[in-house]
Amino acid sequence: MINFDTYSFAGKRAIVRVDFNVPLDKAFNVTDDNRIRAALPTIKKILSDGGSAILMSHLGRPKDGPEEKFSLKHILPTLSKHLGVEVKFAPDCIGAEAVQLSSALKPGEVLLLENLRFYKEEEKGDEGFAQKLANLADVYVNDAFGTAHRAHASTTIIAKFFPQNKMFGYLIQSELNGLEKVLHKPQKPYTAVLGGAKVSTKITIIENLMDKVDNLIIGGGMMFTFIKAQGGKIGSSMVEDDKLDMALDIMAKAKQKGVNILLPVDTVIADSFSNEANSKVVRVDDIPEGWLGLDIAQDSVEQFSKVIENSKTILWNGPMGVFEMPKFAEGTKQVAKAMARATANGAFSLVGGGDSVAAINSLGLADEVSYVSTGGGALLEYLENGDLPGIKAVRE
Ligand code: 3PG
Repeated sequence: MINFDTYSFAGKRAIVRVDFNVPLDKAFNVTDDNRIRAALPTIKKILSDGGSAILMSHLGRPKDGPEEKFSLKHILPTLSKHLGVEVKFAPDCIGAEAVQLSSALKPGEVLLLENLRFYKEEEKGDEGFAQKLANLADVYVNDAFGTAHRAHASTTIIAKFFPQNKMFGYLIQSELNGLEKVLHKPQKPYTAVLGGAKVSTKITIIENLMDKVDNLIIGGGMMFTFIKAQGGKIGSSMVEDDKLDMALDIMAKAKQKGVNILLPVDTVIADSFSNEANSKVVRVDDIPEGWLGLDIAQDSVEQFSKVIENSKTILWNGPMGVFEMPKFAEGTKQVAKAMARATANGAFSLVGGGDSVAAINSLGLADEVSYVSTGGGALLEYLENGDLPGIKAVRE
């Protein structure tokens, strides 16, 4: 496989699949530019080699052709500002104008194509559409880790039109390096911290991690399914009643494999799902009727933090509580801080999945962990399957 870093783009036009699926406000301003900034090193390398870059992405999930709110032209100011280059724009990702604009690109120039998903062919993985995109360039660079779990035309199918000229950009490379450290070569002790609402969406990941980790910390809404399964009283807390057996099964498997499962011992409960609710701390298995657990509490934080701080590898996916509400953000914040302390002591820590990334960013701790993934669904699927269509297509 071609090494992006040593490849010379001099005189070449590179078509780069990026993930610029970023949130916009009502006035179409970019409200979180992390994914744009994450793609910059790849684009800059192509330009500084003397190449030109044709950037393609999706934005949102348009259902029926072009729609103003999903236009990628909205991100042009942010992209141009970060690159320090006036980025050109093709109002249609294929067709005569896109061909003309891309063939006129000079070394050091950047062209952004309009939203790929304005064509149904993108999500269908249509070969003809992929070929039209491929015809715009000499080489293909996939740097869209966040979309690598989609077998779409621009993420996967297009690779076949560049049998000798396809590669990953820096972002995918660093995501894969991070994943390698948590999936294949973890330093021990290894702790996975899993949170979020439902155990059902994490079951394959838990099973996969069970052969690798020493400690499995479970927080977030899914903890109540485990507590109830063991006979605890969880009041009106969130629970998946049809997954109680699954929770017991996970606990039995963990015991068999010598994995230490840590569940919270106490919880912050509220009398309604609101930041203004009345709240108090109780034992996690003794929640009164009508109250619901919305965060882990201090004793749990202390137990979890101790384990995290003694770990050499930490993987974190899913918040410990409803961190969007300040009253119930403390557990997530303390776990993030423990990860930061472990990292300062030499551990490798990886945070991934939409909510935990939002949490670590809103807590201002993103720079204090080893790696924050740009993948939401993509990261989870990689943790489940150890591969993704967009990764495979470039590797093959
Ligand atoms: C994401 O935000 O997770 C990626 O950009 C993929 O978007 P999608 O779920 O609409 O395919």
